[in-house]
Amino acid sequence: MKRINLKKYPKVKLIDNASPIHYLEHISKVLEVDIYIKRDDLFSVGFGGNKLRKLEYLIGDARKNNATHIFTIGAIQSNHARMTAIAARMFGFDIELFLKKSVPLKESSYFENGNIILNNIVNTTIHEVKDNESAYKAIEKRIIELKKEGSRPYLIPIGGSNALGTLGYVDCYFEILKQQADLKVEFDLICSASGSGGTHGGLVVGNALSNRKTEIKAYNVEPDQGQLRAHTLAIANEAMNLCDTDTNLSLSDIQITNEYAGKTYGIPEDFHIDTIKFLAKYQGIFLDPVYTSKAFTGLLMDIKTNVIKKGQKVLYIHTGGAPGIFAYPQYFK
Ligand SMILES: Cc1ncc(COP(=O)(O)O)c(C=O)c1O
Repeated sequence: MKRINLKKYPKVKLIDNASPIHYLEHISKVLEVDIYIKRDDLFSVGFGGNKLRKLEYLIGDARKNNATHIFTIGAIQSNHARMTAIAARMFGFDIELFLKKSVPLKESSYFENGNIILNNIVNTTIHEVKDNESAYKAIEKRIIELKKEGSRPYLIPIGGSNALGTLGYVDCYFEILKQQADLKVEFDLICSASGSGGTHGGLVVGNALSNRKTEIKAYNVEPDQGQLRAHTLAIANEAMNLCDTDTNLSLSDIQITNEYAGKTYGIPEDFHIDTIKFLAKYQGIFLDPVYTSKAFTGLLMDIKTNVIKKGQKVLYIHTGGAPGIFAYPQYFK
């Protein structure tokens, strides 16, 4: 295995311990596949979630650059935006979120509940925008204003998914290797949801650096025509460079399926809601309506269609998002 040194990238501390891996006994028995779940949703800061791993590097970089303000972009109920707001506040930054009204929901709960409450608790400035284009325009304007006042804004990309943020999931991959050894299991497949590619990309990089043949698969939460795969490859290769490796990954290393995303980002279909109810009733674990329910549906369908074979060992990474449930009450009546 190649020795890598990520210590040269300054991190802040947002995570105390390795997230636990639990064996899902009830459903493993029913499905005849050994399903383990890694609880990145249980981190102690800010209701947890995958973004904390990325933010350790990104907020570290903002500090290194003497930033005063942190900006980021997401949908109204973005978990990434909520985590960024909380982490930024913890390290003394001003925080401004540019939240897109891109999900076709009109209910007041979507605009006022769930992650929005958490953003408000930490006194976040929220700019509601229409789409990515208007978000970047508004950001450009704010950067000019703040620079005139002598402030130094730092922009964290959508989902925290640049090469630096992706290193958070390279760390996660090495954490899993250690946990596998402690648990005396070897996973055939590690899988998770993908939205902006950093989580998936980091796992692929970790796998490549350790010369393992574990299958890494992501379930896209947004119907698309392949842009996410190319984007994931690009950031994964940049992250390989940050790890001082000149080997390049190729598209065949990026296994992603768009099949279980439903029709629209941010809108769960009935079968995604069924998945949330299934895991809550059998295992007491809550998935979210936007990301993890879609990915877990993909995992269940892969088992049903024999893509994942009986007796295999699968690790599903629970990437968080449960506060989003409270913004979607109409789906749970
Ligand atoms: C709960 C949850 N799971 C998964 C993801 C997707 O992760 P990534 O953006 O690294 O692909 C997100 C992104 O916001 C998320 O909030």
